[in-house]
Amino acid sequence: MSDDPSWVPPGVDMGRANVARVYDYWLGGSHNFLADQDAARATVAVEPNVRRNARANRAFLGRAVRFLAASGVRQFLDIGSGIPTEGNVHEIAQRADPAARVVYADVDPVAVAHSRAILTGNPTAAVIEADLREPQRILLNDTVRGLIDFAQPAGLLLVSVLHFVADDAEPWEIVAMLRDALAPGSYLVLAHGTGEGTPVALRAAEKVYNRSVSTNVHVRSRAEIARFFDGFDLVDPGVVYIPEWRPDPPGDVPEDPSRFWALVGVGRKP
Ligand SMILES: C[S@@+](CC[C@H](N)C(=O)[O-])C[C@H]1O[C@@H](n2cnc3c(N)ncnc32)[C@H](O)[C@@H]1O
Repeated sequence: MSDDPSWVPPGVDMGRANVARVYDYWLGGSHNFLADQDAARATVAVEPNVRRNARANRAFLGRAVRFLAASGVRQFLDIGSGIPTEGNVHEIAQRADPAARVVYADVDPVAVAHSRAILTGNPTAAVIEADLREPQRILLNDTVRGLIDFAQPAGLLLVSVLHFVADDAEPWEIVAMLRDALAPGSYLVLAHGTGEGTPVALRAAEKVYNRSVSTNVHVRSRAEIARFFDGFDLVDPGVVYIPEWRPDPPGDVPEDPSRFWALVGVGRKP
């Protein structure tokens, strides 16, 4: 007999912290285990701003999806989508247009299982288990092709996922491959960890995180992050700290936005 909660898919290692579940814990979710909670708390101990960053990242995702919806985008491919939580992409997109189509992709079986559960009965949103490091497989996936029409503009969301792809897996090539599959008028929404503004706290947090979580994080410089937008035109205000991207309401930017250690941006494929 297993004591595992009924929502845990078979084969999941509950004894090793993992990216999706640690992030879920920071956001106040309940789909995480002791190992995830320990890793999450150890990171907060060296960088108390972690939870604020996670919430700000989630808020940016919401603002960006609303921006894309207002710009006429009706189909979204969200890779590294995570465990469903407040403000999921399909909820925001389908509020703007109930016919909006969304495909989530994540490498984590827990994230996929929960996404599948909340999407039951939603004919225009789906989830696939997939690895961003294999972009062609994602592009050729039947579920993806069934919901996303690559002849029409789409929103490609890579929000806080590319920093889990090491340089030797060629993250810039991966983004270029995905970009080339998109129709003109499509958008890239990106959030990516950087140590630019808080090098000391961030390096300490990175060390603790990488020691305990199964996938290492690779923070990058502003120039490296901006390179992901090659072939896209950046929309205003460009590549900025999380709270600076079209804040909602506009005055709601903290005094020192560089305390947020992710740079974000939205680009449009011409
Ligand atoms: C920090 S969470 C971000 C979730 C969501 N995009 C957000 O911003 O709220 C990162 C997610 O990326 C997923 N991930 C990490 N590496 C991945 C990969 N190589 N392919 C697909 N997903 C990956 C993790 O499982 C996790 O769910």
